[in-house]
Amino acid sequence: MENPKQKRSYTIAVIPGDGIGPEIVAAARQVLDHLAGLEGFRLDFAAYEAGASAYLKYGDPLPAESMAGCRAADAIFKGPTGLPEVRLPDGTEAGVLGGRLRSGLDLYVNLRPIKLYPNVPTALANRQPGEIDWVMVRENTEGLYASRGNGIVANTGQAATDTLMITRLGSERIIRYAFETARRRNGKKRVTCVDKSNVLRSFAFFRGIFKEIAAEYPDIEPDYLYVDAAAQALVLEPDRFDVIVTENLFGDILSDLGGATVGGIGVCAGANIGDRHAYFEPIHGSAPSLARTGRANPLAAILAGGLLLDYLGESRAAARLEQAVMQAFREKAIVLRPDGSAATGTQAVAEAVIQFSIFNSQFSIDSLAH
Ligand code: IPM
Ligand code: MN
Repeated sequence: MENPKQKRSYTIAVIPGDGIGPEIVAAARQVLDHLAGLEGFRLDFAAYEAGASAYLKYGDPLPAESMAGCRAADAIFKGPTGLPEVRLPDGTEAGVLGGRLRSGLDLYVNLRPIKLYPNVPTALANRQPGEIDWVMVRENTEGLYASRGNGIVANTGQAATDTLMITRLGSERIIRYAFETARRRNGKKRVTCVDKSNVLRSFAFFRGIFKEIAAEYPDIEPDYLYVDAAAQALVLEPDRFDVIVTENLFGDILSDLGGATVGGIGVCAGANIGDRHAYFEPIHGSAPSLARTGRANPLAAILAGGLLLDYLGESRAAARLEQAVMQAFREKAIVLRPDGSAATGTQAVAEAVIQFSIFNSQFSIDSLAH
């Protein structure tokens, strides 16, 4: 992620969110503040209400003031939003902000690193760290989600449709981003196009554009899989993957599948990036039953903080965070249970990452994985 503003003082709009959101965001903020101190830059956080609780209070999950704060900030740090029982009249969840933030701010990239850390219980037998290390580059503003809010229920009440849309502009920019990501990573220099072009015209169109762009990147190997085969390959040969580029809904599904291979989505972070704005979030939900137990795992939020630092151009701080997490796992200062929860609780995980980021003076920016 190349961005811009090496200004060493940044305004960060924070959406603490619902359920466990406020706790894990607070834990991640401690880590971010700590790294800012170590690396000598400033983060000014301003919190904004948004999500299911804002919907209950104001009738709007993203009040105008919150949206304005997000637009004005250098970056947005977002906790999980939405509560299962808080619904719109059409039955969809009221607190989900994806449509508003992703489409509203034209955040066309959803970047999700999938990486197996040491000692993390993976659902895949016999897989070592290093063998699962790839990033999902999910198209974030169109595909089947272009139909968000626009689906049609027949007036007979007996049928409903949503329409999948793939545009040339939307495809070119996400595919180009995927190739740039492969170039930047220390990986296999491979981009896998995941589609269903054997059946659907829209995906044949997408694959055609992929081939055009691939020709601009002779140093990166183009690779192709239909989405069903990709689901199988992510389990049977995860070491095939470096960067995946795909449509919105396929990316949604496969990133959770990827999460399952690295200890669950409790350790997976995502960046939503456009040309002018970006937000960073754990990819899991608000887990309301865990709220205020002190047991919520803040790692995905902390790793989202790493993606934010990288976006701001603070690559040293991002690398320091990445290596602190790596080392905390290696030395079992962070232990994950098979269900993805952290054995030691929210605060202890944040403190472990902070400790290892202090003591780890030997780090290299090259190890940055996304
Ligand atoms: C995600 C989530 C969202 C999505 C939901 C909450 C709308 O699952 O960020 O992956 O489907 O995009
Ligand atoms: Mn999802």
